[in-house]
Amino acid sequence: MVPSVMTGTRRFLIAILLPPLAGAFVTHLNWSPGRVLPTSFEASSSYLKPKIPGPTTVLQSQRLTVEVDASLDDEKVRALFAWIARAYAGEYEYNNLMLAIAAIFGNLPPDSEPVLLAEKALKLLPEDAEETPCGEPFSLYERESNSLGAMGAAQWSGRWKTRPHALLQIQNLTHVDEWIKGLPRGCRRTLKRAVALEEGGNFTVRTLPIYGNQPAPHSCLAHFRCVVAHEVRLLANARDGADVSDFFSALGEAVGRYMGTTRMAGEIREYSNSTTGKVIAVAHEVRKGRTTRGQWFYCTDEAAKNYIWFHSVYDLVRRSIEADGVDVVDLGPSGSDAFSELKERYGFLSVDDWPAVADYEGPFWYNQTGTPKKGLTGLASFLERQLGID
Ligand SMILES: *[C@@H]1O[C@H](CO)[C@@H](O)[C@H](O)[C@H]1NC(C)=O
Ligand SMILES: *[C@@H]1O[C@H](CO)[C@@H](O)[C@H](O)[C@H]1NC(C)=O
Ligand SMILES: *[C@@H]1O[C@H](CO)[C@@H](O)[C@H](O)[C@H]1NC(C)=O
Ligand SMILES: *[C@@H]1O[C@H](CO)[C@@H](O)[C@H](O)[C@H]1NC(C)=O
Repeated sequence: MVPSVMTGTRRFLIAILLPPLAGAFVTHLNWSPGRVLPTSFEASSSYLKPKIPGPTTVLQSQRLTVEVDASLDDEKVRALFAWIARAYAGEYEYNNLMLAIAAIFGNLPPDSEPVLLAEKALKLLPEDAEETPCGEPFSLYERESNSLGAMGAAQWSGRWKTRPHALLQIQNLTHVDEWIKGLPRGCRRTLKRAVALEEGGNFTVRTLPIYGNQPAPHSCLAHFRCVVAHEVRLLANARDGADVSDFFSALGEAVGRYMGTTRMAGEIREYSNSTTGKVIAVAHEVRKGRTTRGQWFYCTDEAAKNYIWFHSVYDLVRRSIEADGVDVVDLGPSGSDAFSELKERYGFLSVDDWPAVADYEGPFWYNQTGTPKKGLTGLASFLERQLGID
């Protein structure tokens, strides 16, 4: 085992092996025992999961030691997005997340192969990548089936039990204020601030429906930035002593989550800073049966300080109360972490047998024309049984 080397607060040394003509393998100097590190990813798998490093039999490899600066900036995230776009396009030499990280966050020589790969990827990235959706144009049917597992279909289709969900029952509420009235004082104050920021024009919210046979509206660089910033804040900056494997894990998680959310159905709520015009948060909601699900939420550090998550929950509850046919707002799995406690303070109780309360039996619901549109109920419920995974 090579000793761990840390050379500064956010700087780490890693060693990479560059086999000629055969991709690259990366080993760690900063290895923490018991950790699974992402070394590569598969652009085509339905869920992008980091591969577990196995023994590598590399002949004639070139060993390089790289110093990685585990901090994010706009250019690095753009370069990472460009790299992933090449992997998506099926270029196998890009199918290695660790190499991407070494090339983009490391101090490799400008003429080294990984750096040249990163530059080539950047050249191929369209100018308008920031706001132009570039994901795969999945059909609505594919999007619905991609959504089911993450929504917890395993439990409502009777396959197996998932974690408890955080639920708010709204069937007896006629106005969002009736929900707020029952919350602790601190929560009421937080929601008031969140709403005041929106009313004061500090941020703007746009609703972007996800359509079938088109790239998802959030499959663009501006939204990818939110996912990366969010995961790095949660995983890599969360504790003192976070190391290079936390950074790798955070980036691997971000790439996987970005791919996951952009394959699914539902609706995107996009938050932008009205001064800078920058996208600062993305909330992904899905409505099925008599339930609305606040499913994915990612935001920049700036948005995290500006109550955006609270606003997104407030607004989801408000719209769900105003909508016909919604009984429950579901904020998804809850366990014993601080986040579950937070949801509970806002009235979202952790329910073990959550499908008994949150009705997911009906079709997916779309607000494309303002009238409910029937999803592929028969096939989808068949898939719920076939593919129920959480
Ligand atoms: C809603 O009101 C009805 C009638 O008063 C009551 O039976 C039911 O328990 C209430 N549901 C909730 C979730 O509060
Ligand atoms: C919101 O906008 C107002 C007016 O532009 C400004 O005075 C205030 O500082 C902003 N608040 C935040 C939290 O950015
Ligand atoms: C918007 O950006 C400005 C300038 O960076 C910042 O001062 C402000 O806090 C941001 N507002 C929100 C709501 O994030
Ligand atoms: C549906 O879309 C319309 C127009 O954008 C909006 O006013 C309405 O609130 C939406 N309804 C729901 C239930 O989201």
